[in-house]
Amino acid sequence: MCGIIGVTGREQALPKLIEGLRRLEYRGYDSAGVATVTNGQINRLRANGKIANLAALADSEPLGGLAGIGHTRWATHGRPSEKNAHPHSDGRVVLVHNGIIENYIDLRAELEASGRLFSTETDTEVIVHLISTLIDAGKPPREAVVLALRKLQGAFALAIMFAGCDNLIIGARRGCPLAIGYGTKQMFLGSDALALAPFTETVSYLEEDDWVELTPEGAQIFNSENVQVDREVRPIASSGYTSSKGEFAHFMLKEIYEQPSVIGDALASLLNPVQRTVELSWMDLDLSRLSRVTVIACGTSFYAGLIAKNWIEKYAKIPVECDLGSEFRYREIEMEPGGLTIVISQSGETADTLAALRYAKKQGQQILAVVNVEESSIARESDAVLLTHAGPEIGVASTKAFTTQLIALACFAIFIALERKKITVDQASDLCDALVQVPSAVNLVLGKSSSLSEIAKVVAPANDVLYLGRGPSYPVALEGALKLKEISYIHAEGYAAGELKHGPIALVDDEVPVIVIAPSDALFEKTASNIQEVAARGGRIILFADRKGLEKLRDFVEVAFEVPETDAMITPIVYTIPVQLLAYYAAVQRNTDVDQPRNLAKSVTVE
Ligand code: M6R
Repeated sequence: MCGIIGVTGREQALPKLIEGLRRLEYRGYDSAGVATVTNGQINRLRANGKIANLAALADSEPLGGLAGIGHTRWATHGRPSEKNAHPHSDGRVVLVHNGIIENYIDLRAELEASGRLFSTETDTEVIVHLISTLIDAGKPPREAVVLALRKLQGAFALAIMFAGCDNLIIGARRGCPLAIGYGTKQMFLGSDALALAPFTETVSYLEEDDWVELTPEGAQIFNSENVQVDREVRPIASSGYTSSKGEFAHFMLKEIYEQPSVIGDALASLLNPVQRTVELSWMDLDLSRLSRVTVIACGTSFYAGLIAKNWIEKYAKIPVECDLGSEFRYREIEMEPGGLTIVISQSGETADTLAALRYAKKQGQQILAVVNVEESSIARESDAVLLTHAGPEIGVASTKAFTTQLIALACFAIFIALERKKITVDQASDLCDALVQVPSAVNLVLGKSSSLSEIAKVVAPANDVLYLGRGPSYPVALEGALKLKEISYIHAEGYAAGELKHGPIALVDDEVPVIVIAPSDALFEKTASNIQEVAARGGRIILFADRKGLEKLRDFVEVAFEVPETDAMITPIVYTIPVQLLAYYAAVQRNTDVDQPRNLAKSVTVE
């Protein structure tokens, strides 16, 4: 993962590096560092922990210099520590790296055998020594970089500086994104456009195996054959980035509360509420002869895919295969040319999802991306894009990104069902009406958040929690368990309610809260039976249901939360809100770092 930034210009680099790193902190926050080159000498500042620690250090020991590079780390090789923090340097070369060098063990052995001394546990340090060795052998910096890159296996985005070259930065990418920002007498490099947004209005993206020479005067880009190339320079889409939590204690809570509004934005972009139609005919996809749909994503986005499976199979009558980005391509599956693969990703940069997209594309599939970040790699590499319009999501736990993904996927399910004539125009209109109800239903749940804070008092002391749901509520159970795990550090598992008796029911005792998501849909009675099975074994049931459901099950539950009754199509979206709030309040009661939970990063750009 990790985020990198570089700047070369006529003003002090340090403030820009720190501001850029703050914007990249979603990519990792284990440690951070910056380096500049002044009067030919490399200077570095590095700190363990979050950017705030580096910023404090930079205040007390400012680094001078008009060009510099910076890094925020999510540790892969070598534990988080100041020593392992980037930039890495041997005094001649200094660099920052996002990605993983897969052959670093062999390279390190070779370099150590030739007398190179290593001072970190990282894979990155081999790149420093490779380049330095070539410079020692008389190669100029750019040639040394090109030769060194040829020896690397794995993925990288790099920003490299050299002792003796005060304003030169060389950037390179393979497998990881790298953007160039254009200023007046100043140039930038960054892992994404968000990092560069305060400094420039235009960016270009390096393509696979490109490298670039950056000076204050401009950028010279070269492809893998070392031929100078032009890459499209485009305006940065307005990011709406905000570093303020406003009245909220955490970004996560703010983002939960933004849902009625961003769900409204997502709906407005896809659905005409007056004509009661979904407007997706602009997508340049051939959906007429599909025999199946493949959905690929990771984490919370994968659970959005599982809910979409329910909708597409139910309304459009096409089998849907959902796969994890991190598993999909290893089975060497043969895909039908012209078939449809949907990739879902908030960031649009998740490495496994991106790699799966490329695999599906090679197999001749049409790719539809459901993404939040318009300029992301996944959006750029897809044939059609449904933007989710959630706005920047800063909290590591995905909330508004998930519910807006669901809106986009629900619209797509209605559209494809109608295209294939599996539902009538009137049925499609009714489903559109149901979707239009989502913001107000979500608002109703948010209005009762204080009772979820009370229910969280039952969950927060637990060591283990089970979540149960059936049909489209099953992925909501999975999402509830993931949310609780990642921010409260309580062990939680989501199960299909009917699976409980096949094993997990052995875990049920009077210490394990069992959270059941049970809207009054066609599956309610079956889930009700599962609730009774848990109650009969002394289990502690927390029920999320509508009034009808609560009345039926009152005698079996310890605590309950009433969710408004809605059309069955939108229940997975509406029931997600109490699940998010419950996890949030449990985490707050356990005093964890809600927005930046331990060991995680917002965007997972390594496989
Ligand atoms: O950016 P993506 O949607 O591709 O990210 C996928 C997962 O990394 C992400 O959903 C992760 O599971 C979140 N931390 C969940 O809250």
